[in-house]
Amino acid sequence: MSTNLKKIFHKGVEFLFIIIYYSFFCAVLKKSKMKRIILFASGSGSNAENIIKYFQAKKTAEVVAVFSNNPDAKVLKKASNLRVETHIFTKEELNSGEVLRKTNEIQPDLIVLAGFLWKFPDDIVAAYPNKIINIHPALLPKYGGKGMYGMNVHRTVLENKDSHSGISIHFVNENYDEGAMIFQADVLVSDCQTAEEIAIKVQELEHIHFPEIIEKILK
Ligand code: GRF
Repeated sequence: MSTNLKKIFHKGVEFLFIIIYYSFFCAVLKKSKMKRIILFASGSGSNAENIIKYFQAKKTAEVVAVFSNNPDAKVLKKASNLRVETHIFTKEELNSGEVLRKTNEIQPDLIVLAGFLWKFPDDIVAAYPNKIINIHPALLPKYGGKGMYGMNVHRTVLENKDSHSGISIHFVNENYDEGAMIFQADVLVSDCQTAEEIAIKVQELEHIHFPEIIEKILK
């Protein structure tokens, strides 16, 4: 190889290394700046899975952990399959500050309750003002409060012959389903014969809107 060709070759290799180094640096920087989400869920976790996948694809934020009170909850398997760390806790750990200690270690930008059935403790609510949100499968203030979850909500909507149902995404405060409203969307349910049909329509809305609203909040 002539001296000139060697020089060009070396310059090329040098340039390639700079590009690789720069891309690596950008990727690390982006990841360190990425907003961190903790999900709390007690059940099947279709919303949790949907949110995890949404942010794994878009990389505008990251679900860093899933917390559950239920060791048998399907959400745990779903999270593990998507390589998200999971934490199971007892009522005692939730109410004694142990769960707060763990969330503080993780330093989330947002805590998302996606089908979490226990009352969220005041110490965590106080530690994360305007950083905890919940989704409710009805148009609050209708059908909120203790005992109003899952199929109970949809059965009541059916019994009351409501023409519409929907979803409510709201901040979490000390009282069940009473924090400031962030977003609502409704859907026609007067054509539904069963509570299950209503549940399907409402879940569709949840899957469409919940990740996008989380993304907006984190901007
Ligand atoms: C959703 O309907 C949500 O609105 C409510 O709990 C349900 C959780 O469903 N808070 P999934 O476990 O995400 O399928």
